[in-house]
Amino acid sequence: MYAQALDQKDKAPSRIEDPVKLAAFEAHCAADDKIEPKDWMPEAYRRTLVRQVSQHAHSEVIGMQPEGNWVTRAPSLKRKAILISKIQDEAGHGLYLYSAAETLGVSREELNDQLLAGKAKYSSIFNYPTLTWADIGTIGWLVDGAAIMNQIPLCRTSFGPYSRAMIRICKEESFHQRQGYEAVMVLARGTPEQKAMAQDALNRWWWPCLMMFGPPDAVSEHSETSMRWRIKRFSNDALRQKFIDATVPQAHFLGLTIPDPDLRFNEASGHWEIGAIDWDEFKRVLAGEGPCNRQRMKVRRAAHENGAWVREAALAHAEKRARRKQAAALQAAE
Ligand SMILES: [Fe+2]
Ligand SMILES: [Fe+2]
Repeated sequence: MYAQALDQKDKAPSRIEDPVKLAAFEAHCAADDKIEPKDWMPEAYRRTLVRQVSQHAHSEVIGMQPEGNWVTRAPSLKRKAILISKIQDEAGHGLYLYSAAETLGVSREELNDQLLAGKAKYSSIFNYPTLTWADIGTIGWLVDGAAIMNQIPLCRTSFGPYSRAMIRICKEESFHQRQGYEAVMVLARGTPEQKAMAQDALNRWWWPCLMMFGPPDAVSEHSETSMRWRIKRFSNDALRQKFIDATVPQAHFLGLTIPDPDLRFNEASGHWEIGAIDWDEFKRVLAGEGPCNRQRMKVRRAAHENGAWVREAALAHAEKRARRKQAAALQAAE
């Protein structure tokens, strides 16, 4: 689903980099050249990317859970088919991103271990429950919508494998957002009960979606270096504002109300202004105290354990093929 600007303080001490190499690297970034896995890069760049890309991958994988809960309860065959294909897309996003992270010299196994041990984060948004069918449409509309805002600039991020993965991911996210908006539209134009369900989902998802862009610029760590190294191109607040400006008119078009009494349009700036975000809630959810954190990790661990036989079978198959190939090569040489 998406890379959250978690901006956690990096505890490892920074290596003193060779100033000549560092200057050449920074010149590459400034010229918008891509940095490829075999190129020299500062240790802090590698570390930041491993963290960001793996958090992004974990978010895609954990993000399948809130929607997966509704596959058996989708209201029609069409909705079920759309939902299943969206969830499969998210699994694919996880795979591309783990592969991109592996090019930085860390194994997928290690990244997965960090997630299962609770050492790695994933997007806070997936710790909220999906209570009604309207939540599924709202996730597509708002969560995937916020993901797109974040990810479009990542298509031009400086690390080559990450930027290339994002191009395909963004195309799929665009379908996710549109199917979600359309599903909410059907409810908003349906019976009074259906419209109330859509409004209730918007009420619960609006603020957590705004938190997806990460802490305000004033307190965000790493932002300046990430911008200089072209990992990030827009600040958390700038992306959040872009999302608000795009989404408020969409809600109004549906006849729904944004759950913010302080929301107002600033004629002078041309932007929608919002009330205060509850950053304590964000911190609580990130620290593991959200409504579904424990459940999400429990399900993830069980899925990993239950999938052990698949990994073993795939390895055994690969070994068998390698042996056969070797035998054929030996025979040909005789
Ligand atoms: Fe995704
Ligand atoms: Fe998505």
